[in-house]
Amino acid sequence: MVSKYQLFINGEWVNSESSETFERANPAEPDEIIGEFQKGNILDVQKAVDAAEKALPAWSDTPAPKRAAFLFKTVQLLSESKVELSRIMTREMGKTLRDSGADVQEAIDVGFYAAGEGKRLLGYTVPSEKPNKFAMTVRLPIGVAGLISPWNFPIAIPAKKVFYALLCGNTAVLKPASDTPLCATKLVELMEKSGVPKGVINLVTGPGETVGMALVRDKRVRVISFTGHKDTGAVILREAGLKRINLEMGGKNPIIVMDDADLELAVNGVLWGGFETTGQRCTASSRVIVHEKIKEAFEKMLVEQVRRLQLGNGLDPKTDIGPLVNKAAQDKVSKYVELGKKEGAKLLTGGSVPEGSKGYFFEPTVFTDCTENMRVAQEEIFGPVISVLSTKDLNEAIEIANSVEYGLSSSIYTKDIHNAFVAINKLQAGLTYVNSPTIGAECHLPFGGVKHSGNTREDGPEGVKEFTELKTVYIDYSGKLQKAYID
Ligand code: UN1
Repeated sequence: MVSKYQLFINGEWVNSESSETFERANPAEPDEIIGEFQKGNILDVQKAVDAAEKALPAWSDTPAPKRAAFLFKTVQLLSESKVELSRIMTREMGKTLRDSGADVQEAIDVGFYAAGEGKRLLGYTVPSEKPNKFAMTVRLPIGVAGLISPWNFPIAIPAKKVFYALLCGNTAVLKPASDTPLCATKLVELMEKSGVPKGVINLVTGPGETVGMALVRDKRVRVISFTGHKDTGAVILREAGLKRINLEMGGKNPIIVMDDADLELAVNGVLWGGFETTGQRCTASSRVIVHEKIKEAFEKMLVEQVRRLQLGNGLDPKTDIGPLVNKAAQDKVSKYVELGKKEGAKLLTGGSVPEGSKGYFFEPTVFTDCTENMRVAQEEIFGPVISVLSTKDLNEAIEIANSVEYGLSSSIYTKDIHNAFVAINKLQAGLTYVNSPTIGAECHLPFGGVKHSGNTREDGPEGVKEFTELKTVYIDYSGKLQKAYID
């Protein structure tokens, strides 16, 4: 019997107005159906926004430290269910149990951090130009938030959006990716359990084109927070009208390996950054720009290690790399590998769907002799494919690194402090790592990209900025009219 799940609107679990459902299968074992979910439509979104709008005044009047208490409770419940949630996540989207555990842990850590903001929500007080006058800022909620989350971090990303939105006094409608509706449903169940008042958090599953776009187009939704593909981000910007739009999108993240680098460290970094989560991270280390002097030695070490990686069901502790999220992703990766070969890139290892695999597996793949204009060196593949390019010096490496439309994460392996600081200054990216790969951002520092990777910063002290309006307040206690720039 396949379990059925519902939408959460105004504090109640309900079926969609569409009377339609969709199923999600385990990508490692496509015969295993994870659940049956509601195919939400525009009417469901309207109901959810109605509920969020109705709940807004009381929620935004609740003091932020009290709002934080609900987050702490949810965090506690997340911690208690970490093992169960990790297993659900691995079955729902394929990543290894280790990776799923990290995802839940990230949600827990974000929850703690965001809840701490309940006692801060910092504004600032500065001197006024006039005597007997105060000048300061306060942070206020924006209104109803539409939160559109991806499948690659099925708990951590929805959780961070929901936590920050609610902590800041907004109410929300969450629209999770259709590949991971169960993780999002579990998160909302925990929020319900922790006593979040009805209408404050609503969940509508269903297609992006209908549910997501209905949220984007609804004038009552005052802020959208989206993580996903840049083409969808562009549609959101076009369709949203005048509201706040926070976008986190893709990457084609480079690791530069200089000739003075610790090669073993660099190889381990490339393996981790390129293949963890089966390369399905916006921060994945998908390009490696290697100094020509050490290229051969580096590639030899890398290929040896890549061939040792174990593909399999993420529930198996021996597995290093799980399947891709679905058949379309597997087809997309296959298409890019064919394209890379046609473009003249040299396949060092991998490049195929493993024989006889039922699930959506793909071998960890390394291309070399890529040139910067090849599509495999420019476009986000979102799978276990690394493109190696060669460089003669740091300036050229940085030019190659910056030659893509993305700018999310970046990295350099070097022992030379000069190289490191030049890279920190010149790499066009929201994040630069020195001697570690491009993945693994910590949730108490800002996260986000430049260029087509995004227009905002999530997490850390920046997180509250995504979901608040800054109001400037002047308090004149001089008792007379003081004219700015005249008196
Ligand atoms: C993403 O892939 O959408 O830095 C986000 C990292 C993770 C976040 C990735 N903490 O790899």
